[in-house]
Amino acid sequence: MINLNEVQSFAEGGNRKCYINPNNPKRCLKVLHKDLLENLQKNSAWYKRLGNNDDLDDNLRERKAYNQKAIRSPINSSIWDHLAMWYGMVETNLGSASETELITNEGEIAETLETYLFREGLTPEIKSALKNFENWVRTHLVLTKNIIPHNIVIKKENGSLILKIIDGLGSKSFIPLPKYSKFYARIYVERRIKLMWSRIHWDLSGRIGDWK
Ligand SMILES: Nc1ncnc2c1ncn2[C@@H]1O[C@H](COP(=O)(O)OP(=O)(O)OP(=O)(O)O)[C@@H](O)[C@H]1O
Ligand SMILES: [Mg+2]
Repeated sequence: MINLNEVQSFAEGGNRKCYINPNNPKRCLKVLHKDLLENLQKNSAWYKRLGNNDDLDDNLRERKAYNQKAIRSPINSSIWDHLAMWYGMVETNLGSASETELITNEGEIAETLETYLFREGLTPEIKSALKNFENWVRTHLVLTKNIIPHNIVIKKENGSLILKIIDGLGSKSFIPLPKYSKFYARIYVERRIKLMWSRIHWDLSGRIGDWK
Protein backbone atom coordinates (compact mmCIF):
# COMPACT_ATOMS: atom_id res chain seq x y z
CA MET A 1 0.00 0.00 0.00
CA ILE A 2 1.40 3.40 -0.98
CA ASN A 3 1.15 6.14 1.63
CA LEU A 4 0.33 9.53 0.13
CA ASN A 5 0.04 11.43 3.41
CA GLU A 6 3.40 13.11 2.92
CA VAL A 7 2.91 13.74 -0.80
CA GLN A 8 1.46 17.00 -2.17
CA SER A 9 -0.87 16.59 -5.14
CA PHE A 10 0.56 18.35 -8.22
CA ALA A 11 -2.76 18.86 -9.98
CA GLU A 12 -6.41 17.97 -9.81
CA GLY A 13 -9.43 17.79 -12.04
CA GLY A 14 -13.13 17.60 -11.28
CA ASN A 15 -12.88 13.91 -10.39
CA ARG A 16 -9.36 13.07 -9.29
CA LYS A 17 -6.26 14.33 -7.49
CA CYS A 18 -2.90 13.62 -9.10
CA TYR A 19 0.27 12.70 -7.19
CA ILE A 20 3.79 11.77 -8.22
CA ASN A 21 4.31 8.18 -7.13
CA PRO A 22 6.71 8.44 -4.13
CA ASN A 23 8.24 5.09 -5.19
CA ASN A 24 8.67 6.04 -8.84
CA PRO A 25 8.92 9.71 -9.89
CA LYS A 26 8.17 8.83 -13.53
CA ARG A 27 4.66 7.72 -12.65
CA CYS A 28 1.48 9.54 -11.73
CA LEU A 29 -1.13 8.26 -9.26
CA LYS A 30 -4.72 9.45 -9.59
CA VAL A 31 -7.12 9.06 -6.68
CA LEU A 32 -10.81 9.94 -6.72
CA HIS A 33 -11.76 13.00 -4.67
CA LYS A 34 -12.91 12.05 -1.20
CA ASP A 35 -16.66 11.29 -1.02
CA LEU A 36 -17.05 11.82 -4.76
CA LEU A 37 -18.14 8.29 -5.56
CA GLU A 38 -20.59 8.15 -2.68
CA ASN A 39 -22.21 11.43 -3.72
CA LEU A 40 -22.37 10.35 -7.35
CA GLN A 41 -23.96 7.04 -6.40
CA LYS A 42 -26.57 8.85 -4.36
CA ASN A 43 -27.46 11.27 -7.13
CA SER A 44 -27.03 9.26 -10.29
CA ALA A 45 -29.99 7.76 -12.04
CA TRP A 46 -27.50 5.69 -14.07
CA TYR A 47 -26.05 4.07 -10.99
CA LYS A 48 -29.49 3.15 -9.74
CA ARG A 49 -30.37 1.65 -13.08
CA LEU A 50 -27.11 -0.17 -13.78
CA GLY A 51 -25.98 -0.95 -10.26
CA ASN A 52 -22.30 -0.60 -11.11
CA ASN A 53 -19.66 2.04 -10.63
CA ASP A 54 -17.79 1.73 -13.89
CA ASP A 55 -19.29 4.78 -15.55
CA LEU A 56 -19.14 6.91 -12.41
CA ASP A 57 -15.69 6.02 -11.14
CA ASP A 58 -13.18 7.71 -13.47
CA ASN A 59 -10.49 5.18 -12.53
CA LEU A 60 -12.67 2.21 -13.49
CA ARG A 61 -13.70 4.01 -16.66
CA GLU A 62 -10.02 4.53 -17.45
CA ARG A 63 -9.16 0.88 -16.81
CA LYS A 64 -11.90 -0.21 -19.20
CA ALA A 65 -10.88 2.41 -21.74
CA TYR A 66 -7.24 1.29 -21.85
CA ASN A 67 -8.58 -2.18 -22.56
CA GLN A 68 -10.32 -1.04 -25.77
CA LYS A 69 -9.46 -2.92 -28.96
CA ALA A 70 -7.36 -0.13 -30.53
CA ILE A 71 -5.00 -0.24 -27.53
CA ARG A 72 -5.24 -3.92 -26.58
CA SER A 73 -4.54 -5.15 -30.13
CA PRO A 74 -2.90 -2.16 -31.82
CA ILE A 75 -2.15 -2.13 -35.53
CA ASN A 76 1.41 -0.99 -34.68
CA SER A 77 3.48 0.51 -31.87
CA SER A 78 2.59 4.10 -32.79
CA ILE A 79 -0.51 3.56 -30.64
CA TRP A 80 1.59 4.87 -27.71
CA ASP A 81 2.73 8.03 -29.52
CA HIS A 82 -0.14 10.11 -28.12
CA LEU A 83 -1.10 8.21 -24.98
CA ALA A 84 0.28 8.23 -21.46
CA MET A 85 1.24 4.64 -20.61
CA TRP A 86 -1.11 2.94 -18.17
CA TYR A 87 0.24 0.67 -15.43
CA GLY A 88 -2.96 -0.52 -13.77
CA MET A 89 -4.51 0.14 -10.38
CA VAL A 90 -2.55 0.35 -7.13
CA GLU A 91 -3.75 0.67 -3.56
CA THR A 92 -2.97 3.84 -1.60
CA ASN A 93 -4.12 5.04 1.81
CA LEU A 94 -6.44 7.45 -0.05
CA GLY A 95 -8.09 4.67 -2.03
CA SER A 96 -7.39 2.89 -5.31
CA ALA A 97 -5.23 4.85 -7.70
CA SER A 98 -4.87 4.65 -11.44
CA GLU A 99 -1.14 4.61 -12.22
CA THR A 100 0.01 6.22 -15.46
CA GLU A 101 3.14 7.60 -17.05
CA LEU A 102 3.88 11.09 -15.74
CA ILE A 103 4.48 13.31 -18.76
CA THR A 104 7.37 15.71 -18.18
CA ASN A 105 9.70 18.03 -20.07
CA GLU A 106 13.21 18.29 -18.62
CA GLY A 107 11.95 17.32 -15.18
CA GLU A 108 8.97 19.73 -15.21
CA ILE A 109 5.44 18.36 -15.37
CA ALA A 110 4.14 18.94 -18.90
CA GLU A 111 1.60 21.72 -19.35
CA THR A 112 -1.88 21.11 -20.71
CA LEU A 113 -2.97 22.04 -24.20
CA GLU A 114 -5.45 24.41 -22.57
CA THR A 115 -2.71 26.33 -20.72
CA TYR A 116 -0.64 26.51 -23.90
CA LEU A 117 -3.55 27.73 -26.05
CA PHE A 118 -4.55 30.42 -23.55
CA ARG A 119 -0.98 31.74 -23.51
CA GLU A 120 0.15 31.26 -27.11
CA GLY A 121 -2.98 30.80 -29.21
CA LEU A 122 -3.04 28.58 -32.30
CA THR A 123 0.63 28.83 -33.27
CA PRO A 124 1.89 26.94 -36.37
CA GLU A 125 3.68 24.50 -33.99
CA ILE A 126 0.52 23.59 -32.11
CA LYS A 127 -1.55 23.39 -35.32
CA SER A 128 0.94 20.88 -36.64
CA ALA A 129 0.82 18.94 -33.33
CA LEU A 130 -2.99 18.89 -33.52
CA LYS A 131 -2.88 17.64 -37.11
CA ASN A 132 -0.55 14.76 -36.13
CA PHE A 133 -2.82 13.95 -33.22
CA GLU A 134 -5.91 13.93 -35.45
CA ASN A 135 -4.20 11.58 -37.93
CA TRP A 136 -3.26 9.25 -35.09
CA VAL A 137 -6.86 9.13 -33.78
CA ARG A 138 -8.05 8.35 -37.31
CA THR A 139 -5.40 5.71 -37.99
CA HIS A 140 -5.94 3.80 -34.75
CA LEU A 141 -9.62 4.60 -34.25
CA VAL A 142 -8.99 5.31 -30.57
CA LEU A 143 -12.30 5.84 -28.81
CA THR A 144 -12.33 8.88 -26.59
CA LYS A 145 -14.93 10.92 -24.83
CA ASN A 146 -15.03 14.52 -26.02
CA ILE A 147 -11.43 15.66 -26.40
CA ILE A 148 -11.02 18.66 -24.10
CA PRO A 149 -7.76 20.69 -24.08
CA HIS A 150 -7.28 20.27 -20.31
CA ASN A 151 -7.17 16.48 -20.82
CA ILE A 152 -4.19 16.68 -23.16
CA VAL A 153 -0.63 17.60 -22.19
CA ILE A 154 2.26 18.67 -24.40
CA LYS A 155 5.50 16.71 -24.59
CA LYS A 156 8.44 18.42 -26.29
CA GLU A 157 10.54 16.11 -28.42
CA ASN A 158 13.40 17.18 -30.71
CA GLY A 159 11.97 20.66 -31.06
CA SER A 160 8.41 19.59 -31.88
CA LEU A 161 5.30 19.42 -29.74
CA ILE A 162 3.58 16.08 -29.18
CA LEU A 163 0.09 15.86 -27.73
CA LYS A 164 -0.59 13.16 -25.15
CA ILE A 165 -4.01 12.16 -23.85
CA ILE A 166 -3.91 11.94 -20.06
CA ASP A 167 -7.65 11.65 -19.42
CA GLY A 168 -10.87 11.08 -21.34
CA LEU A 169 -10.30 7.77 -23.10
CA GLY A 170 -13.34 5.57 -23.60
CA SER A 171 -16.62 6.05 -25.33
CA LYS A 172 -20.04 7.07 -24.26
CA SER A 173 -21.54 3.89 -22.85
CA PHE A 174 -24.88 4.40 -24.52
CA ILE A 175 -23.28 4.27 -27.99
CA PRO A 176 -21.81 0.74 -28.16
CA LEU A 177 -21.65 0.41 -31.98
CA PRO A 178 -18.21 2.07 -32.46
CA LYS A 179 -16.72 -0.59 -30.15
CA TYR A 180 -17.72 -3.36 -32.52
CA SER A 181 -17.73 -1.82 -35.97
CA LYS A 182 -14.96 0.06 -37.79
CA PHE A 183 -17.58 1.83 -39.86
CA TYR A 184 -19.22 3.32 -36.76
CA ALA A 185 -15.85 3.88 -35.08
CA ARG A 186 -14.85 6.12 -38.02
CA ILE A 187 -18.03 8.15 -37.72
CA TYR A 188 -17.55 8.36 -33.96
CA VAL A 189 -13.92 9.58 -34.10
CA GLU A 190 -14.67 12.12 -36.85
CA ARG A 191 -17.33 13.57 -34.57
CA ARG A 192 -14.83 13.73 -31.65
CA ILE A 193 -12.28 15.51 -33.89
CA LYS A 194 -14.87 18.01 -35.07
CA LEU A 195 -15.94 18.67 -31.47
CA MET A 196 -12.30 18.98 -30.37
CA TRP A 197 -11.89 21.86 -32.81
CA SER A 198 -15.14 23.46 -31.79
CA ARG A 199 -14.04 23.29 -28.13
CA ILE A 200 -10.65 24.84 -29.01
CA HIS A 201 -12.29 27.72 -30.90
CA TRP A 202 -14.81 28.19 -28.09
CA ASP A 203 -11.98 28.34 -25.51
CA LEU A 204 -10.05 30.84 -27.62
CA SER A 205 -13.02 33.08 -28.31
CA GLY A 206 -13.86 33.65 -24.63
CA ARG A 207 -16.26 30.73 -24.10
CA ILE A 208 -19.36 32.47 -25.31
CA GLY A 209 -22.50 30.38 -25.88
CA ASP A 210 -22.44 26.61 -26.23
CA TRP A 211 -19.34 24.86 -27.65
CA LYS A 212 -21.13 21.80 -29.06
N1 LIG B 1 0.03 11.65 -16.72
C1 LIG B 1 0.06 12.96 -16.51
N2 LIG B 1 1.17 13.68 -16.77
C2 LIG B 1 1.20 15.02 -16.54
N3 LIG B 1 0.16 15.72 -16.04
C3 LIG B 1 -0.97 15.06 -15.75
C4 LIG B 1 -1.07 13.66 -15.98
N4 LIG B 1 -2.32 13.27 -15.61
C5 LIG B 1 -2.95 14.36 -15.17
N5 LIG B 1 -2.17 15.46 -15.25
C6 LIG B 1 -2.55 16.82 -14.85
O1 LIG B 1 -3.55 16.71 -13.85
C7 LIG B 1 -4.78 17.33 -14.27
C8 LIG B 1 -5.97 16.53 -13.74
O2 LIG B 1 -5.89 15.17 -14.14
P1 LIG B 1 -7.12 14.40 -14.78
O3 LIG B 1 -7.57 15.14 -15.99
O4 LIG B 1 -6.74 12.99 -14.96
O5 LIG B 1 -8.19 14.54 -13.60
P2 LIG B 1 -9.78 14.38 -13.66
O6 LIG B 1 -10.31 14.78 -12.33
O7 LIG B 1 -10.11 13.01 -14.17
O8 LIG B 1 -10.20 15.46 -14.76
P3 LIG B 1 -11.68 15.96 -15.25
O9 LIG B 1 -11.96 17.22 -14.52
O10 LIG B 1 -11.37 16.21 -16.72
O11 LIG B 1 -12.60 14.81 -15.02
C9 LIG B 1 -4.68 17.36 -15.80
O12 LIG B 1 -5.47 18.38 -16.34
C10 LIG B 1 -3.18 17.59 -16.01
O13 LIG B 1 -2.85 18.95 -15.82
MG1 LIG C 1 -9.33 15.64 -16.74
